[in-house]
Amino acid sequence: MIEHPTASARQLQDVVAAGFSRGVLPSLAHYRTPEQSAAWRAVATSFFDRAPGRSAFDDVYTEIAENCPGTPVHVIALGCGDGSKEEALVRNLCLAGLDVAITLADISPSLLELAGARQEAIENVRVLTSIACDVTTVGGSLADLIEYLPGRRVITMFGVLPGLTTMSAFESVASLMRDGDLFAFSGNMLPNGAGEIERLCDFYATGSAHDWMALVFSGAGIDTESLSWSVAPAYTSEVFAVATVSVKAEVLRDCVANVGDHAIQLEAGQTIDTFRSHRHSSESLTDLLESLGMKLICLQLSDSGEEGVVLARK
Ligand SMILES: C[S@@+](CC[C@H](N)C(=O)[O-])C[C@H]1O[C@@H](n2cnc3c(N)ncnc32)[C@H](O)[C@@H]1O
Repeated sequence: MIEHPTASARQLQDVVAAGFSRGVLPSLAHYRTPEQSAAWRAVATSFFDRAPGRSAFDDVYTEIAENCPGTPVHVIALGCGDGSKEEALVRNLCLAGLDVAITLADISPSLLELAGARQEAIENVRVLTSIACDVTTVGGSLADLIEYLPGRRVITMFGVLPGLTTMSAFESVASLMRDGDLFAFSGNMLPNGAGEIERLCDFYATGSAHDWMALVFSGAGIDTESLSWSVAPAYTSEVFAVATVSVKAEVLRDCVANVGDHAIQLEAGQTIDTFRSHRHSSESLTDLLESLGMKLICLQLSDSGEEGVVLARK
């Protein structure tokens, strides 16, 4: 596994400490430790119970195979998590008779290990480097770490967009793509209908999702009795979102967040913007894609109306 400087323990501590100081935690703050990674996997499992039915991902895997006829494929998975989605994609490509290699990238070494093991278990797939990096700051230097193979690159970025506060991750994506390469990414959608955003807020307010988000505080030595949580809709155009489920924690008494060598004084009444799940519409995902100068191949929606998966070509 390669550790890019953006993913060194020291750098992540600096980034998370800066997040506590300015009151906005970056998404990566929730996946740093093995404990957080395991808790996130429990959330991912409960997501399937809450949003059953056909997933949009399967349709996109099929489209990807159809758009790579007879050519070797190099999947480059950004924010791959445990790699379960890329495993399904790679199996699909292999079934279509394609020659497949895969490179994995994520901020979390423990998730990268899981993802690597999943791909290794697939016959006839070349598993290349795993790269620990921050996709929001690694920029063009990511391209230097990735093997140059003939054929078509398929860049995936599933589940990352909902937590972003800037478009900078897309610069890394752009630096990896050559003409004709494919980019598949997913967004969380705002399902149609009254009360949907409130239903989504309820999911993050309780159970495994809440327990997972609380770990960023307990890991910094702040107990849950010192916090008051609120989960509410927010409306923002950040990363082309049409709405956001916004999770904030108010500090009830003066306390200190300890992150590595950093000790950040938090004052009673201060609010930490802890987590966000940006929500999109088909139009806003298409607008995002257009801003990147890519051509839409397809946009698939899950039965639940909660997931949208986009496939595009450079
Ligand atoms: C919601 S999970 C999605 C995981 C997986 N792609 C999936 O769809 O199941 C978000 C993933 O992005 C990773 N991540 C979040 N912020 C990141 C960043 N700035 N750089 C690299 N990875 C990041 C997390 O470690 C996590 O694995």
